[in-house]
Amino acid sequence: MKTEALEVLRNRRAIRKYKPDQITQEELGAVLEAGTFAPTGAGTQGVQIVAVQTPAYVERVKALNAQILGKPGMDPYYGAPTVVLVFETAKCFTHGMDGAAVCTNMVNAAYAAGLGSCWIHRCAQMFETEEGKALLREWGLPEDLTGVASLALGYADCEHPKAAPRKEGYAIIV
Ligand SMILES: Cc1cc2nc3c(=O)[nH]c(=O)nc-3n(C[C@H](O)[C@H](O)[C@H](O)COP(=O)(O)O)c2cc1C
Repeated sequence: MKTEALEVLRNRRAIRKYKPDQITQEELGAVLEAGTFAPTGAGTQGVQIVAVQTPAYVERVKALNAQILGKPGMDPYYGAPTVVLVFETAKCFTHGMDGAAVCTNMVNAAYAAGLGSCWIHRCAQMFETEEGKALLREWGLPEDLTGVASLALGYADCEHPKAAPRKEGYAIIV
């Protein structure tokens, strides 16, 4: 049994307070690579990952998410210096699932690499807006990408949260 990997899967938690310090390229690379090795339906690799680190783009992404949330001025990424966006392309036919698998690999890899992360919602709505399409154009990406999810990524600036108790009968064996 790869007990170290199982410990990572058990102990990763959503982090909701980050230090402003940027993560290293090595740490980011490890997270992104883990995303690219996630399973995808029929192995299509129809997912596009975008790591946002340029401060002006980070601010625009945060503002866009806050706008969808209906809380302008709020930072839905909890001060994280890196935001990772996950999109699906038209090539992808197992919609939602491929992107979610990529996100799951990345949050677990982040914890294994000593980083904090938090899965953040509203990516689909963000990239249906004019501002979202403008960002895609500026990044040289097709405008028909579908947002799946985004991740806050950085160094945790809080105690490691405790997991909620697991519900009775979560998994059964038949
Ligand atoms: C699909 C999905 C959407 C989520 N969206 C948000 C979000 O927008 N903001 C947030 O703070 N956490 C978000 N989370 C994180 C969950 O709240 C968190 O994973 C859950 O409370 C369990 O905590 P844990 O990850 O520490 O085990 C999301 C998680 C998932 C899987």
